[in-house]
Order: sequence, then structure tokens, then C-alpha cells
Amino acid sequence: MDGTAGTGKSSVGMLAAKELGYDFLSTGEMYRALGYKTIEKKIAVDDVQKVTEIAKNIKFTFERGTDASLKMFVDGEYLGNKLHSEKVGEAASKTSAIPSARAVLTDKMREIGRGGGIIMEGRDIGTVVFPDAEIKFYIDATPEERAKRRFNQLIQRGEKADYETILECIRARDLRDSTRTVAPLKPAEDAFIIDTSSMALEQVVEHILSVIKEKIKNN
Ligand code: DC
Repeated sequence: MDGTAGTGKSSVGMLAAKELGYDFLSTGEMYRALGYKTIEKKIAVDDVQKVTEIAKNIKFTFERGTDASLKMFVDGEYLGNKLHSEKVGEAASKTSAIPSARAVLTDKMREIGRGGGIIMEGRDIGTVVFPDAEIKFYIDATPEERAKRRFNQLIQRGEKADYETILECIRARDLRDSTRTVAPLKPAEDAFIIDTSSMALEQVVEHILSVIKEKIKNN
């Protein structure tokens, strides 16, 4: 399951996985962990050698929680919300443009998903990590709709938010994710493309499940 940032694809993937009895992993968390470590170690996000070294040395372990989502530990530590600040998101987006660091994390993702029974969500899962995945989805929504959702989320949390700034960040992140030379964000040729701009979360989950069930029936 791939798509732009802020489409709700994590929530969708997690709910669908729960329904199917699968595991769920948001691979952006792994790139976020890389960004986090880069900041922590005060390394420049474009220092190819050092960022790649960090990627190699990060030890990811996972625990099955009560929902379908795999709980990720980074060098034994659960980082939770620390991975979700704008600063870490920026660092993740920048370090994830380094081909050698991507190669390392891609290998780690393949290791995790090898046994199947998992919905993996990211930017290049259907195109690069698992080109032979049984079913691929590409989830999208307009930048304006994603900015609106993010704005509402922050306000609900009691945090400060400015719609125009959020929209600008989303556009910049989209551009960076889709124009990088390695594994740019794009739909796999055989992906089901879903535009969630005018869909509620439950509708997207329902739609995805119906596509999966149809596919299983026809196999
Ligand atoms: O989905 P997210 O916002 O948590 O992802 C954080 C960053 O990681 C995002 O800017 C792009 C990058 N990413 C990637 O390049 N490939 C993936 N498979 C997942 C995320």
C-alpha cells in the first residue's frame, strides 16, 4: 500500500489488516527512525556515508500488539510519538532520498515481509520492496484535503496549526518524495488507485476489503 503523506493510509491499512487477521507495518516509521537517529547524532541529513552507516546499524525489532499494527522498537527503545514531529518527518524525507540508505532499509523491510500475511504501507512497497505483492493499492487525496485533515488533527490535539504552512509542507514533501532519483513515489502499474479526497475512513477500508476479497475469490 503506497501513497502520498497524510491520506490516512496508515489507519486504513491497520483496520484492513485487523479485519483480515494480518500484521500491519507502516514503513515510514523506519525512515522516521533513521531521521530521528540522524538528528540525535547531529549528522547532516545529506551526509551519505554517515546516514547509510546509521541505517545499517539500526536494529529494528517488532512486537505484535493488541491491534494489527506491529509495535516497532529502535535499538530496543519504543520511540512512539517522538517519531511524529514535523522535524523528524522532514529529516525522514531527506534521508530517505539517499539511495544507499534506502537499499539498507529495503532489505530490512523484505526480511520483515518475507513470510507474507502482512499489509505494508509506504511509498515504494509495490514498486520496489515487493514488486510481486499479491495486491497493491495506491492511496491518494488532494493536497488541500490532506492539509485540512492534518490541520483538524492538530487543532483537536490542542496544538497550534496554520493551514497554509501545512499545505506548503505537504506540497514540498510530495515533490521531494516523487522526484527523488531512487524509488520515487508513484503508483505501481498494477496498483488499485484510490482517491480518498471525498471518502470517509470506513468507506476506504470497506472498498479495500472488497477488492481484496474479490481478488481472493478469483484466484
Ligand atoms: O509515511 P511517513 O510520512 O511516515 O514517511 C516518512 C518519510 O519516509 C516520507 O517523507 C517518505 C519516506 N518513506 C519512503 O521514502 N519510503 C517508504 N516506503 C516509506 C516512507
